[in-house]
Amino acid sequence: MKPNFDEIIDRRNTNSLKHDACAVVFGREDVLPLWVADMDFPCPEVVMQAIRKRLEHPVFGYFGHSDAFYQSIVAWMHKRHAWDIEKEWICFSPGVVSGLAMAVQAFSRPGDKIIVQPPVYHPFYYVVERQNRVLLHNKLIRNEDQYSMDFADLEEKLKSGAQMLLLCNPHNPVGRCWTKEELQRLGELCLKYQCLVVSDEIHSDLIMQGFVHTAMAGLGKAIADNTITFMAPSKSFNLAGMASSEAIIPNPELRKSFIRISNEVLHVSLGNTFGDAALEAAYTHGEAWLDDLLDYLHGNLLYLNDFITRQLPSLGLYRHEATYLVWVDFSALGLEHKALQHKLVHEAGLGFSEGSIFGPGGEQHMRINIACPRSVLEIAMKALQACCV
Ligand SMILES: Cc1ncc(COP(=O)(O)O)c(C=O)c1O
Repeated sequence: MKPNFDEIIDRRNTNSLKHDACAVVFGREDVLPLWVADMDFPCPEVVMQAIRKRLEHPVFGYFGHSDAFYQSIVAWMHKRHAWDIEKEWICFSPGVVSGLAMAVQAFSRPGDKIIVQPPVYHPFYYVVERQNRVLLHNKLIRNEDQYSMDFADLEEKLKSGAQMLLLCNPHNPVGRCWTKEELQRLGELCLKYQCLVVSDEIHSDLIMQGFVHTAMAGLGKAIADNTITFMAPSKSFNLAGMASSEAIIPNPELRKSFIRISNEVLHVSLGNTFGDAALEAAYTHGEAWLDDLLDYLHGNLLYLNDFITRQLPSLGLYRHEATYLVWVDFSALGLEHKALQHKLVHEAGLGFSEGSIFGPGGEQHMRINIACPRSVLEIAMKALQACCV
Protein backbone atom coordinates (compact mmCIF):
# COMPACT_ATOMS: atom_id res chain seq x y z
CA MET A 1 0.00 0.00 0.00
CA LYS A 2 1.24 3.50 -0.89
CA PRO A 3 2.00 5.78 2.05
CA ASN A 4 -0.50 8.58 2.54
CA PHE A 5 1.58 11.71 3.07
CA ASP A 6 -1.58 13.84 3.08
CA GLU A 7 -2.65 12.43 6.42
CA ILE A 8 -2.39 14.88 9.30
CA ILE A 9 -0.89 13.33 12.39
CA ASP A 10 -1.21 15.21 15.64
CA ARG A 11 2.32 15.22 17.07
CA ARG A 12 1.54 17.46 20.01
CA ASN A 13 2.17 16.01 23.46
CA THR A 14 4.62 13.43 22.13
CA ASN A 15 7.67 15.38 23.36
CA SER A 16 8.20 16.45 19.75
CA LEU A 17 10.75 19.23 19.58
CA LYS A 18 9.10 20.70 16.51
CA HIS A 19 5.58 20.76 17.96
CA ASP A 20 5.99 20.84 21.71
CA ALA A 21 8.84 23.34 22.10
CA CYS A 22 7.25 26.23 20.20
CA ALA A 23 6.58 28.26 23.32
CA VAL A 24 10.27 28.13 24.21
CA VAL A 25 11.58 28.68 20.69
CA PHE A 26 9.06 31.19 19.32
CA GLY A 27 7.54 32.64 22.44
CA ARG A 28 4.12 31.20 21.69
CA GLU A 29 2.63 27.76 21.54
CA ASP A 30 0.29 28.20 18.64
CA VAL A 31 2.70 28.77 15.73
CA LEU A 32 2.54 26.47 12.74
CA PRO A 33 5.93 24.75 13.12
CA LEU A 34 7.93 24.47 9.90
CA TRP A 35 11.36 24.63 11.48
CA VAL A 36 13.52 21.81 12.94
CA ALA A 37 14.49 19.20 10.34
CA ASP A 38 12.15 16.31 10.88
CA MET A 39 9.04 15.37 8.96
CA ASP A 40 5.39 15.30 9.97
CA PHE A 41 5.02 11.92 8.27
CA PRO A 42 4.99 8.47 9.89
CA CYS A 43 8.07 6.37 9.24
CA PRO A 44 7.70 3.45 6.77
CA GLU A 45 5.52 0.54 7.86
CA VAL A 46 8.48 -1.83 7.27
CA VAL A 47 10.33 0.04 10.02
CA MET A 48 7.35 -0.19 12.38
CA GLN A 49 7.21 -3.94 11.75
CA ALA A 50 10.89 -4.38 12.57
CA ILE A 51 10.53 -2.41 15.80
CA ARG A 52 7.41 -4.37 16.83
CA LYS A 53 9.19 -7.62 16.13
CA ARG A 54 12.12 -6.66 18.32
CA LEU A 55 9.74 -5.47 21.02
CA GLU A 56 8.33 -8.98 21.30
CA HIS A 57 11.55 -10.13 22.97
CA PRO A 58 11.55 -8.69 26.49
CA VAL A 59 15.28 -8.48 27.16
CA PHE A 60 17.10 -5.31 26.14
CA GLY A 61 20.58 -6.01 27.35
CA TYR A 62 23.90 -5.09 25.76
CA PHE A 63 24.10 -6.08 22.13
CA GLY A 64 26.41 -5.94 19.12
CA HIS A 65 25.62 -4.54 15.67
CA SER A 66 24.70 -7.52 13.52
CA ASP A 67 26.19 -8.44 10.18
CA ALA A 68 22.79 -7.68 8.61
CA PHE A 69 22.95 -4.16 10.11
CA TYR A 70 26.29 -3.47 8.41
CA GLN A 71 25.28 -5.16 5.16
CA SER A 72 22.14 -3.00 4.95
CA ILE A 73 24.39 0.08 4.96
CA VAL A 74 26.77 -1.40 2.38
CA ALA A 75 23.86 -2.29 0.08
CA TRP A 76 22.20 1.12 0.49
CA MET A 77 25.33 3.01 -0.47
CA HIS A 78 25.65 0.83 -3.55
CA LYS A 79 22.06 1.08 -4.75
CA ARG A 80 21.29 4.69 -3.87
CA HIS A 81 24.68 6.36 -4.22
CA ALA A 82 26.70 4.09 -6.55
CA TRP A 83 29.31 4.06 -3.80
CA ASP A 84 30.93 0.71 -3.02
CA ILE A 85 32.02 0.57 0.57
CA GLU A 86 33.30 -2.22 2.79
CA LYS A 87 31.67 -3.34 5.99
CA GLU A 88 34.90 -2.67 7.93
CA TRP A 89 34.76 1.02 7.02
CA ILE A 90 31.53 1.55 8.96
CA CYS A 91 31.60 2.92 12.51
CA PHE A 92 28.46 3.53 14.52
CA SER A 93 27.65 7.04 15.73
CA PRO A 94 24.50 7.89 17.69
CA GLY A 95 23.97 11.12 15.79
CA VAL A 96 25.68 12.90 12.96
CA VAL A 97 26.38 15.96 15.09
CA SER A 98 27.90 13.84 17.83
CA GLY A 99 29.95 12.17 15.09
CA LEU A 100 31.15 15.56 13.84
CA ALA A 101 32.11 16.50 17.38
CA MET A 102 34.02 13.23 17.79
CA ALA A 103 35.80 13.82 14.48
CA VAL A 104 36.87 17.28 15.66
CA GLN A 105 38.14 15.71 18.87
CA ALA A 106 39.94 12.86 17.08
CA PHE A 107 41.60 14.80 14.26
CA SER A 108 42.42 18.24 15.59
CA ARG A 109 43.75 19.91 18.70
CA PRO A 110 42.65 23.04 20.53
CA GLY A 111 43.79 26.05 18.51
CA ASP A 112 43.68 24.23 15.16
CA LYS A 113 41.84 25.86 12.28
CA ILE A 114 38.68 24.29 10.89
CA ILE A 115 36.90 25.55 7.76
CA VAL A 116 33.13 25.81 7.42
CA GLN A 117 31.13 27.18 4.51
CA PRO A 118 28.45 29.59 5.76
CA PRO A 119 25.58 29.97 5.77
CA VAL A 120 25.61 26.45 7.13
CA TYR A 121 23.86 24.14 9.61
CA HIS A 122 24.54 25.86 12.93
CA PRO A 123 25.90 22.92 14.99
CA PHE A 124 28.93 23.01 12.65
CA TYR A 125 29.96 26.13 14.56
CA TYR A 126 29.31 24.65 17.99
CA VAL A 127 31.33 21.46 17.51
CA VAL A 128 34.32 23.59 16.48
CA GLU A 129 34.13 26.57 18.81
CA ARG A 130 33.01 24.73 21.91
CA GLN A 131 36.03 22.48 21.60
CA ASN A 132 38.31 25.53 21.35
CA ARG A 133 39.23 25.13 17.71
CA VAL A 134 39.38 28.18 15.44
CA LEU A 135 36.62 28.64 12.86
CA LEU A 136 37.55 29.81 9.37
CA HIS A 137 34.60 31.00 7.27
CA ASN A 138 34.85 30.11 3.61
CA LYS A 139 31.61 31.89 2.73
CA LEU A 140 29.48 30.56 -0.10
CA ILE A 141 29.01 32.92 -3.02
CA ARG A 142 25.45 33.96 -3.60
CA ASN A 143 24.58 34.05 -7.29
CA GLU A 144 21.30 34.98 -8.98
CA ASP A 145 19.42 31.77 -8.18
CA GLN A 146 21.87 29.54 -6.32
CA TYR A 147 25.02 29.47 -4.22
CA SER A 148 28.48 28.28 -5.24
CA MET A 149 31.75 27.63 -3.45
CA ASP A 150 34.46 30.28 -3.33
CA PHE A 151 37.48 28.20 -4.32
CA ALA A 152 39.92 31.12 -4.36
CA ASP A 153 39.07 31.99 -0.77
CA LEU A 154 39.11 28.29 0.14
CA GLU A 155 42.67 27.98 -1.15
CA GLU A 156 43.71 30.98 0.96
CA LYS A 157 42.20 29.36 4.04
CA LEU A 158 43.90 26.07 3.24
CA LYS A 159 47.25 27.82 2.77
CA SER A 160 46.88 29.29 6.22
CA GLY A 161 47.15 25.76 7.60
CA ALA A 162 43.57 24.58 8.18
CA GLN A 163 43.44 21.13 9.69
CA MET A 164 39.95 20.15 8.69
CA LEU A 165 36.99 21.20 6.53
CA LEU A 166 33.42 20.45 7.55
CA LEU A 167 31.51 19.93 4.32
CA CYS A 168 27.71 19.92 4.16
CA ASN A 169 26.90 17.67 1.19
CA PRO A 170 24.13 18.33 0.18
CA HIS A 171 24.06 21.73 1.77
CA ASN A 172 21.70 22.73 4.55
CA PRO A 173 20.32 25.45 4.44
CA VAL A 174 21.01 26.65 0.87
CA GLY A 175 19.71 23.47 -0.77
CA ARG A 176 22.65 22.81 -3.08
CA CYS A 177 23.37 19.28 -4.27
CA TRP A 178 27.07 19.82 -4.98
CA THR A 179 28.17 18.52 -8.37
CA LYS A 180 30.85 15.94 -8.93
CA GLU A 181 33.08 18.65 -10.43
CA GLU A 182 32.70 20.95 -7.43
CA LEU A 183 33.43 18.14 -5.01
CA GLN A 184 36.39 16.90 -7.04
CA ARG A 185 37.89 20.39 -7.00
CA LEU A 186 37.33 20.75 -3.27
CA GLY A 187 38.70 17.26 -2.60
CA GLU A 188 41.84 17.90 -4.63
CA LEU A 189 42.50 21.24 -2.97
CA CYS A 190 42.14 19.65 0.46
CA LEU A 191 44.52 16.87 -0.54
CA LYS A 192 47.07 19.39 -1.81
CA TYR A 193 47.09 21.20 1.54
CA GLN A 194 46.61 18.07 3.69
CA CYS A 195 43.34 19.21 5.12
CA LEU A 196 40.98 16.44 6.25
CA VAL A 197 37.46 16.55 4.79
CA VAL A 198 34.61 15.65 7.13
CA SER A 199 31.59 15.28 4.90
CA ASP A 200 28.14 15.45 6.48
CA GLU A 201 25.91 13.62 4.00
CA ILE A 202 22.85 13.21 6.19
CA HIS A 203 20.61 14.74 3.49
CA SER A 204 22.05 12.63 0.66
CA ASP A 205 18.89 10.57 0.16
CA LEU A 206 16.74 13.68 -0.20
CA ILE A 207 17.64 14.81 -3.68
CA MET A 208 15.12 16.62 -5.85
CA GLN A 209 14.26 15.47 -9.37
CA GLY A 210 16.97 16.21 -11.91
CA PHE A 211 19.89 16.15 -9.45
CA VAL A 212 22.23 13.39 -8.28
CA HIS A 213 24.09 13.11 -5.01
CA THR A 214 27.84 12.52 -5.22
CA ALA A 215 29.44 10.84 -2.24
CA MET A 216 32.62 12.83 -1.58
CA ALA A 217 34.56 9.68 -0.71
CA GLY A 218 33.34 7.99 -3.90
CA LEU A 219 35.70 10.22 -5.92
CA GLY A 220 38.70 7.91 -6.00
CA LYS A 221 41.05 6.40 -3.46
CA ALA A 222 43.13 9.48 -2.70
CA ILE A 223 40.07 11.57 -1.80
CA ALA A 224 38.44 8.63 0.02
CA ASP A 225 41.53 8.24 2.19
CA ASN A 226 41.25 11.90 3.16
CA THR A 227 37.52 11.88 3.90
CA ILE A 228 35.28 10.88 6.76
CA THR A 229 31.64 10.61 5.77
CA PHE A 230 28.59 10.74 8.00
CA MET A 231 25.28 9.36 6.81
CA ALA A 232 22.10 8.22 8.52
CA PRO A 233 18.55 7.05 7.84
CA SER A 234 17.30 9.72 10.24
CA LYS A 235 16.35 12.45 7.74
CA SER A 236 15.43 10.07 4.90
CA PHE A 237 13.00 7.93 6.92
CA ASN A 238 12.13 10.33 9.74
CA LEU A 239 14.01 8.41 12.42
CA ALA A 240 15.95 11.16 14.20
CA GLY A 241 14.60 10.00 17.56
CA MET A 242 16.25 6.61 17.01
CA ALA A 243 19.69 8.20 17.29
CA SER A 244 21.45 5.82 14.91
CA SER A 245 23.92 7.00 12.29
CA GLU A 246 26.99 5.78 10.53
CA ALA A 247 30.49 7.13 9.99
CA ILE A 248 32.15 5.66 6.91
CA ILE A 249 35.94 5.82 7.09
CA PRO A 250 37.93 3.99 4.39
CA ASN A 251 41.36 5.03 5.71
CA PRO A 252 42.35 2.50 8.45
CA GLU A 253 44.52 4.98 10.35
CA LEU A 254 41.75 7.58 10.49
CA ARG A 255 39.27 4.89 11.42
CA LYS A 256 41.43 3.77 14.30
CA SER A 257 41.61 7.30 15.67
CA PHE A 258 37.86 7.80 15.35
CA ILE A 259 37.13 4.47 17.07
CA ARG A 260 39.49 5.38 19.86
CA ILE A 261 37.30 8.37 20.68
CA SER A 262 33.90 6.78 20.06
CA ASN A 263 34.56 3.37 21.61
CA GLU A 264 37.31 3.86 24.12
CA VAL A 265 36.95 7.44 25.37
CA LEU A 266 33.23 8.15 25.08
CA HIS A 267 31.76 4.64 24.85
CA VAL A 268 29.00 5.65 22.44
CA SER A 269 29.47 2.97 19.81
CA LEU A 270 26.66 0.77 21.10
CA GLY A 271 23.58 2.81 20.22
CA ASN A 272 20.18 1.36 21.02
CA THR A 273 18.41 -1.85 20.10
CA PHE A 274 15.49 -0.16 18.34
CA GLY A 275 17.78 2.17 16.40
CA ASP A 276 19.57 -0.82 14.91
CA ALA A 277 16.30 -2.52 14.00
CA ALA A 278 14.98 0.68 12.41
CA LEU A 279 18.14 1.46 10.46
CA GLU A 280 18.43 -2.05 9.07
CA ALA A 281 14.75 -2.22 8.07
CA ALA A 282 14.79 1.22 6.46
CA TYR A 283 17.89 0.56 4.39
CA THR A 284 16.82 -2.98 3.49
CA HIS A 285 13.13 -2.48 2.71
CA GLY A 286 12.53 1.28 2.60
CA GLU A 287 13.47 2.16 -0.96
CA ALA A 288 9.96 2.26 -2.45
CA TRP A 289 8.73 4.39 0.47
CA LEU A 290 11.59 6.82 -0.03
CA ASP A 291 10.81 7.16 -3.74
CA ASP A 292 7.17 7.94 -2.88
CA LEU A 293 8.34 10.46 -0.30
CA LEU A 294 10.59 12.18 -2.85
CA ASP A 295 7.66 12.49 -5.26
CA TYR A 296 5.54 14.05 -2.53
CA LEU A 297 8.28 16.46 -1.46
CA HIS A 298 8.80 17.46 -5.06
CA GLY A 299 5.08 18.27 -5.28
CA ASN A 300 5.36 20.39 -2.13
CA LEU A 301 8.37 22.19 -3.58
CA LEU A 302 6.52 22.95 -6.83
CA TYR A 303 3.55 24.21 -4.84
CA LEU A 304 5.72 26.51 -2.69
CA ASN A 305 7.69 27.81 -5.66
CA ASP A 306 4.54 28.48 -7.63
CA PHE A 307 2.79 30.19 -4.72
CA ILE A 308 5.70 32.44 -3.88
CA THR A 309 6.36 33.32 -7.52
CA ARG A 310 2.74 34.31 -8.10
CA GLN A 311 1.60 35.70 -4.77
CA LEU A 312 4.77 36.88 -3.03
CA PRO A 313 7.10 37.86 -5.88
CA SER A 314 9.20 40.10 -3.66
CA LEU A 315 10.53 37.05 -1.78
CA GLY A 316 13.65 35.49 -3.30
CA LEU A 317 13.71 31.81 -4.26
CA TYR A 318 16.75 29.74 -5.15
CA ARG A 319 17.01 26.68 -7.33
CA HIS A 320 16.29 24.02 -4.76
CA GLU A 321 18.25 20.84 -5.41
CA ALA A 322 18.22 18.81 -2.20
CA THR A 323 16.80 18.50 1.35
CA TYR A 324 13.23 19.31 2.42
CA LEU A 325 14.42 22.63 3.84
CA VAL A 326 13.80 25.51 1.47
CA TRP A 327 15.87 28.68 1.72
CA VAL A 328 13.94 31.87 1.05
CA ASP A 329 15.23 35.44 0.86
CA PHE A 330 13.03 37.93 2.74
CA SER A 331 15.36 40.91 2.36
CA ALA A 332 12.90 42.81 0.16
CA LEU A 333 10.72 43.30 3.25
CA GLY A 334 13.51 45.53 4.58
CA LEU A 335 13.36 44.15 8.11
CA GLU A 336 16.25 43.33 10.38
CA HIS A 337 16.24 39.63 11.39
CA LYS A 338 14.64 39.96 14.81
CA ALA A 339 11.87 42.19 13.45
CA LEU A 340 11.31 39.79 10.56
CA GLN A 341 11.06 36.80 12.87
CA HIS A 342 8.71 38.72 15.15
CA LYS A 343 6.43 39.62 12.26
CA LEU A 344 6.27 36.05 10.95
CA VAL A 345 5.65 34.56 14.39
CA HIS A 346 3.20 37.12 15.72
CA GLU A 347 1.39 38.31 12.59
CA ALA A 348 1.41 35.12 10.52
CA GLY A 349 1.67 32.54 13.29
CA LEU A 350 4.53 30.84 11.42
CA GLY A 351 7.55 29.14 12.95
CA PHE A 352 10.36 29.01 10.38
CA SER A 353 14.08 28.63 11.10
CA GLU A 354 15.51 32.12 11.25
CA GLY A 355 18.35 32.55 8.75
CA SER A 356 20.91 34.30 10.94
CA ILE A 357 21.37 31.15 13.07
CA PHE A 358 23.19 29.67 10.07
CA GLY A 359 25.91 32.29 10.31
CA PRO A 360 27.21 34.96 7.94
CA GLY A 361 25.04 35.31 4.84
CA GLY A 362 21.99 33.88 6.56
CA GLU A 363 20.52 37.22 7.61
CA GLN A 364 17.12 38.14 6.20
CA HIS A 365 16.50 34.59 5.08
CA MET A 366 14.18 31.95 6.43
CA ARG A 367 14.49 28.17 6.14
CA ILE A 368 11.09 26.59 5.54
CA ASN A 369 10.59 22.90 6.28
CA ILE A 370 8.25 21.54 3.59
CA ALA A 371 8.11 17.95 4.94
CA CYS A 372 4.46 18.22 5.97
CA PRO A 373 1.11 17.40 4.42
CA ARG A 374 0.38 19.68 1.44
CA SER A 375 -2.71 21.09 3.17
CA VAL A 376 -0.48 22.31 6.03
CA LEU A 377 1.89 23.96 3.57
CA GLU A 378 -1.09 25.63 1.90
CA ILE A 379 -2.21 27.07 5.23
CA ALA A 380 1.33 28.31 5.85
CA MET A 381 1.63 29.97 2.44
CA LYS A 382 -1.74 31.72 2.81
CA ALA A 383 -0.74 32.99 6.25
CA LEU A 384 2.52 34.23 4.80
CA GLN A 385 0.70 36.00 2.01
CA ALA A 386 -1.72 37.68 4.40
CA CYS A 387 1.19 38.93 6.49
CA CYS A 388 3.63 39.98 3.77
CA VAL A 389 1.60 41.68 1.04
C1 LIG B 1 23.46 18.90 7.90
C2 LIG B 1 22.92 18.25 9.12
N1 LIG B 1 23.72 17.46 9.86
C3 LIG B 1 23.27 16.85 10.98
C4 LIG B 1 21.97 17.01 11.39
C5 LIG B 1 21.50 16.37 12.66
O1 LIG B 1 21.98 15.10 12.78
P1 LIG B 1 21.78 14.28 14.13
O2 LIG B 1 20.40 14.52 14.60
O3 LIG B 1 22.00 12.88 13.65
O4 LIG B 1 22.82 14.74 15.06
C6 LIG B 1 21.11 17.83 10.66
C7 LIG B 1 19.73 18.05 11.12
O5 LIG B 1 19.06 18.94 10.71
C8 LIG B 1 21.60 18.45 9.49
O6 LIG B 1 20.81 19.22 8.75
